[in-house]
Amino acid sequence: MNSKQLISSSSLIHFLFYVVLFLTSTTISTSYADGNDTDHHSLLEIKSMITSEALTSWNNSLHFCDWIGVTCGKWEKRVTRLKLNSQGLEGSLSPHVGNLGFLRFLSLSNNSLQGTIPQELGRLSSLQFLYLSTNKFSGVIPVNISKCSNLETLSLSLNDLVGSIPKEIGSSPN
Ligand SMILES: *[C@@H]1O[C@H](CO)[C@@H](O)[C@H](O)[C@H]1NC(C)=O
Ligand SMILES: *[C@@H]1O[C@H](CO)[C@@H](O)[C@H](O)[C@H]1NC(C)=O
Ligand SMILES: *[C@@H]1O[C@H](CO)[C@@H](O)[C@H](O)[C@H]1NC(C)=O
Ligand SMILES: *[C@@H]1O[C@H](CO)[C@@H](O)[C@H](O)[C@H]1NC(C)=O
Repeated sequence: MNSKQLISSSSLIHFLFYVVLFLTSTTISTSYADGNDTDHHSLLEIKSMITSEALTSWNNSLHFCDWIGVTCGKWEKRVTRLKLNSQGLEGSLSPHVGNLGFLRFLSLSNNSLQGTIPQELGRLSSLQFLYLSTNKFSGVIPVNISKCSNLETLSLSLNDLVGSIPKEIGSSPN
């Protein structure tokens, strides 16, 4: 093998190396940008049960982490905050909210949401702040809320709820 061939074969190897690197990084950044399908799907289910001007921005022109009222984690594209207070929301709260597994903060206060508060909220083990006051929620306060073992603040006032706040709230999970 002469030196010319050596150079070209080593630059071919370099070239292939960069192709592989490019493909790998493209794949990584694509899945990163897509975020979690479960969160995306849950937000669309929540939107489907609510009518509001505010939620027209919840469309494919933006990543769901950039939708109005939605905040995702810095590294993982998972929904950590949903802040939709005083948005004139009408309709009800989808049980799919219980699939936003990283949710820490949920505020829907001062809207016109009706129906029951979904039991599925009890699946949100990271939830710390839950504000549902000043709506038209009715029915029984779900006992499952007591499963939100990290809940610090719960606001349910000014609704048509019956029952009491489960006494387990605030106690340790054991
Ligand atoms: C999305 O999150 C759910 C629940 O946390 C998990 O089961 C699922 O594997 C995740 N999907 C992806 C693509 O990360
Ligand atoms: C989609 O959302 C953008 C803002 O994010 C908004 O300007 C646009 O009107 C929306 N499109 C539709 C069809 O509602
Ligand atoms: C409640 O929401 C309405 C808009 O729907 C707003 O005009 C009003 O100022 C809000 N009230 C409070 C106390 O935030
Ligand atoms: C709510 O709690 C009840 C009683 O503990 C349980 O049977 C039910 O499966 C729970 N539902 C959800 C959606 O977590």
